[in-house]
Amino acid sequence: MQAIVQKSYGPPSVLSLQEIENPEPKPDEILIQIKATAINPLDWHFMRGAPYFMRFQFGLFRPKIKTVGADVAGIVISKGSQVKQFEIGDKVMGILFSKQHMSLGGLAEYAAAPEALFVHMPAEISFAEAAALPVAGLTAYHGLFSFGDIQPDDEVLVNGASGGVGIFTVQLAKNTGARVTGVCSTKNVELVRSLGAEEVIDYTKTSLDQLEQSFDLIIDNVGNYSVKQYAGLLKPGGKCAIIGYGGFKKLLGHMLQSPRLSKKTGKKIGMVSWEYTKKDLAYLADQMEQNKLRSIVSKTYILPETSKAMEHLETGHAVGKVVVEIGRYT
Ligand SMILES: NC(=O)c1ccc[n+]([C@@H]2O[C@H](COP(=O)([O-])OP(=O)(O)OC[C@H]3O[C@@H](n4cnc5c(N)ncnc54)[C@H](OP(=O)(O)O)[C@@H]3O)[C@@H](O)[C@H]2O)c1
Repeated sequence: MQAIVQKSYGPPSVLSLQEIENPEPKPDEILIQIKATAINPLDWHFMRGAPYFMRFQFGLFRPKIKTVGADVAGIVISKGSQVKQFEIGDKVMGILFSKQHMSLGGLAEYAAAPEALFVHMPAEISFAEAAALPVAGLTAYHGLFSFGDIQPDDEVLVNGASGGVGIFTVQLAKNTGARVTGVCSTKNVELVRSLGAEEVIDYTKTSLDQLEQSFDLIIDNVGNYSVKQYAGLLKPGGKCAIIGYGGFKKLLGHMLQSPRLSKKTGKKIGMVSWEYTKKDLAYLADQMEQNKLRSIVSKTYILPETSKAMEHLETGHAVGKVVVEIGRYT
């Protein structure tokens, strides 16, 4: 099959389209024909081996995992003997990478992975819209619910409201009844409003430091403020989930200062990562099925254009999700 492969860490030019062996499903796995794969910042972190400390786990000098892509949607074409939840022909969406199953390879024609990592696709959505959901949707979910314990009357600030994680954060927060303020640049103000934000702050005109209001919950998908600044924006007892990677220096500051300042202020400020559970992904898929949640796919590419897709995402200004459609060019 054709797949995107990286033999070394580096810029998007390290990615090449190659012929590799077709995967074989193990007893608990489904084999899917991939139709679409969403690109996430985690893909460029793996591509570049950055921040450097991740190389201790994923390969010091070159990547141990040589295939690329985590978020997939496709059709089940074969299954292992223990698979119970899926039949041949089912349309599915899921993640190839989890704490238990550290694998990638969504930028390929086929992938085999445990059925536990997939759910059925909601009816009436495209493969691109389905692939766009898992990592970004689960990150938003984890920040708002597991970490943030969002309440219906909360005032919620979403920094980076127009990106992959942001579009889902705004909608999920709004669906709980919270009052949402989104932060994005001028070109995305109307989009963020259309997703349900009552107020939108254009960061090219107003810095969050200038705000007089404060919030019960902040979801920061950019990582460009200090822990002290986040604490200043929170109401007493408020919470701030730092999701965005604002560079190594900012990351270090967030890691070192969050526990100390949380203790001192009584506010909960912490770094939040996405976590996979099938239950949470099923919840998100159900929200989509009920038309309460939608993917915004602003740009699609084809498999041989994966480097371009990665360059686009690496600008840090993609709108909604960037998706690679697999098979469209064959
Ligand atoms: N820890 C985890 O598990 C996890 C999981 C997923 C993502 N992340 C991290 O979360 C971040 C967001 O991910 P993503 O998938 O949403 O990325 P993305 O799709 O690239 O979106 C980034 C968004 O940030 C906005 N932005 C850029 N500069 C901004 C600023 N100064 N103020 C406010 N917004 C700004 C951009 O909007 P404009 O175009 O309007 O500037 C863009 O829409 C990344 O840093 C990623 O590494 C972490």
